[in-house]
Formats: sequence, structure tokens, C-alpha cells
Amino acid sequence: DFIILSTPEATPQLKSLLGDGSAWGVSIEYRVQPKPAGIADAFNICGDDLDGMNTAMILGDNIFYGHRLPEAVQAGARIADEGGAMVYAYEVGDPRAFGVVEMDEAGRAVGLVEKPENPKSNLAVPGLYFFDKQATALAKTLTPSGRGELEITDLNRWYLEQGTLQVERLGRGIAWLDGGTPEALAEATSYIRAIEARQGLRAACPEEIAFRRGFIDKAGFVAAIEALPKCDYRAYLEGVAARV
Ligand code: G1P
Repeated sequence: DFIILSTPEATPQLKSLLGDGSAWGVSIEYRVQPKPAGIADAFNICGDDLDGMNTAMILGDNIFYGHRLPEAVQAGARIADEGGAMVYAYEVGDPRAFGVVEMDEAGRAVGLVEKPENPKSNLAVPGLYFFDKQATALAKTLTPSGRGELEITDLNRWYLEQGTLQVERLGRGIAWLDGGTPEALAEATSYIRAIEARQGLRAACPEEIAFRRGFIDKAGFVAAIEALPKCDYRAYLEGVAARV
């Protein structure tokens, strides 16, 4: 179900943290990207694994939180099924560090540029993408950008030029945060902490999600909890298990 692609150094750590997914009723495999050759390089590394499948890709330093996020994700999966790609547009104060999408008055994407010096809009493209099965073959045709990377924006632009790129705006009710720098990670941590403390609920808790979505049954949920060391996280899950 999932491939986690990371550096040679981080991959073993991710593997020991997340495992093979069986505790959560999903399968997780791991692949290594030896050099930072770009996001679209994921398709060159994982192409054989994908074997004609549609794909969703999320960047590990991108954090999404908010109401109606599942609907936005399901829309992406539907577009990929129909043949095409889907990306999102999110308003930010300074979009120059991102892929930037320009939209016309009818809400159609008309331009897509990676890290423009003079952005034509404030709409950044977050690191969450849906592609139909053409993506693997298309990635092979990409050439490295000025920063020496195979750019996901170039892949998205191919779909845009074919008229098969759907761009959905994520409203201000959804938080798109970043874990890519110490400052951004600290901000994201404060945001999630405030919400978790207020609600008494955990955000993105894989054991709880797997149980509530029916990937594992109650016995599997209890087994996943028992595999955890004694800590606040486990106590939270024990509380959930006692109530369901
Ligand atoms: C990458 C993508 C960019 C996207 C961003 C989202 O940037 O190239 O289009 O907007 O992720 O986080 P990078 O992290 O490689 O600078």
C-alpha cells in the first residue's frame, strides 16, 4: 500500500519506527534514494513496484491537518482513476520557495512554475500529488533542472499541457504546515500540540486510524497497543480502546 522512500541514513530508522505496517493492517515497503536527485526520481526508483498503478505521493516534510481533507484526497484518487493528475493550491504569504500555480477566473490552472522569483499568484502547490499510471513512464522523459533535480513540477506541467491536470484549492480551514526546517517544525509542533491539548485527541495516530477505519479489528488494536512502550501515547490509545 505504501512505499517509504528516503536517504540511506534515514531509511533504517524509519523502518524500525514504522515497521511493515501489519500492525495497522496495511503494507509498507522501503526504498532508498541514494542521492537527492529530485522528487520525480521516486518514479524511477519505485517504477517496477508500481506496475501500472495509479499513485499518490506525499512529501515527508509536508503536514496537512483539517476538516474535509479526506474529501480532497478522495477527489485526487478519483481524478487519477479517470486518467489525469491532481495537485492542490494553497494560499501562502510568500510562495517563492514552492511550486506556484496560476489560475484563471474560472479556477482553471493556466501556469505552473517551480520556485519563481516573481510569482504570478500566491498559490503554492503542496507536496501531495495524485497521478494516473502514466507517471512512471513520463518521469523517464524528465531532465534535471538547474538545481540538478528531476522536478515534480515538470511532471505536473506535462499533465497541465495535456489538459489533464486538475487543481483543487485547499481552503484556509485546512492547515498545510512544514517540517522541513527547525523553525517550521517548531511551528507545526505548536499547532498540533494546541489542538491535541484542546480536544484530548491525537492527530494522525496510526493505530487509532487503522482501528476506526476497520483496517484492524479490536484484537489487532489491543495487540498494537500492547507492543508500545509505556508512555502518554500508549495511555491515550488505552483510553480509546476502553471506550470502543
Ligand atoms: C518541493 C516541490 C515544490 C513544492 C514543495 C512543497 O519543493 O519541488 O514544488 O511546492 O516541495 O513542500 P522542495 O522541498 O524540493 O524545495
